[in-house]
Amino acid sequence: MTHTALNAGAYLHHIELQSSNPERLAHFYGSAMQMDVAHEGDLYVCRGPGRRVLISKGEDKKLGLGAFACRDAESLAALRARADKEGLKPQDAASILMDQAFAVHDPDGNRILFGLGKQDPVTSKGIKGPIQHLTLATHDPDAIEAFYAGKLGFAVSDRVRKPTGEVATCFMRSNHEHHTLACFRSDRKGVDHHSYEAGEWNVIRDWCDHYATQDIQLMWGPGRHGPGNNLFIFIVDPDGNWIEVSAELEVVHDRPVKEWPHAERTLNLWGKGILRS
Ligand SMILES: [Fe+2]
Repeated sequence: MTHTALNAGAYLHHIELQSSNPERLAHFYGSAMQMDVAHEGDLYVCRGPGRRVLISKGEDKKLGLGAFACRDAESLAALRARADKEGLKPQDAASILMDQAFAVHDPDGNRILFGLGKQDPVTSKGIKGPIQHLTLATHDPDAIEAFYAGKLGFAVSDRVRKPTGEVATCFMRSNHEHHTLACFRSDRKGVDHHSYEAGEWNVIRDWCDHYATQDIQLMWGPGRHGPGNNLFIFIVDPDGNWIEVSAELEVVHDRPVKEWPHAERTLNLWGKGILRS
């Protein structure tokens, strides 16, 4: 078997967001995303069922790291060997949430970890919504695709292309989920958004009802994306990070890459689209 992120069955395990006010942000994730919040060393650790967000002191809306968990130690070791062979200089990475983690840096300087997920402590119950994908903002989607797909063996599911031929968005998968990582062409670098997968429509309703109790308004949606065919809503956290709750994301086993026009309808089949470039 070839050594790829796809063959390692890698899934988004957690992210770390930097914040100028980590305490405020952590309490938002605690209440809005139904997570238990702990303060460990320099980090706020937010954990809910299947979802984990770390918050560190830094610049608002800057990614601390993105972390993917592999299926087992063998596939993790094979992926690390591939990263090494591709010249990515994988380094041992200490992680409070994963074992045997290694870190690489993508062309935008985003720190990305691969490891084995540690057993989650028993967390309080909450609405279904494991963390599912991370979407980057970048000046150069081609370089991001070359890194994650070319060097690490993510599979490209869909691309959105401008009339000029430039790629506006690239969706990549590291398991059967249509995308676990994506990137949008943008005038900035960092995080575009991250997403939680509710699985089905009625669970999105439950999240919206929960947000209503917190006086949190939807920023976008409900809608349905073209690529991935997923239903979605978006809210914004106090730092301005976009949070998506999605359902019915396409399951991809094997198919050719689909290309979509850069149009409002591609981003939202039901209504208003938010084009990033
Ligand atoms: Fe998304």
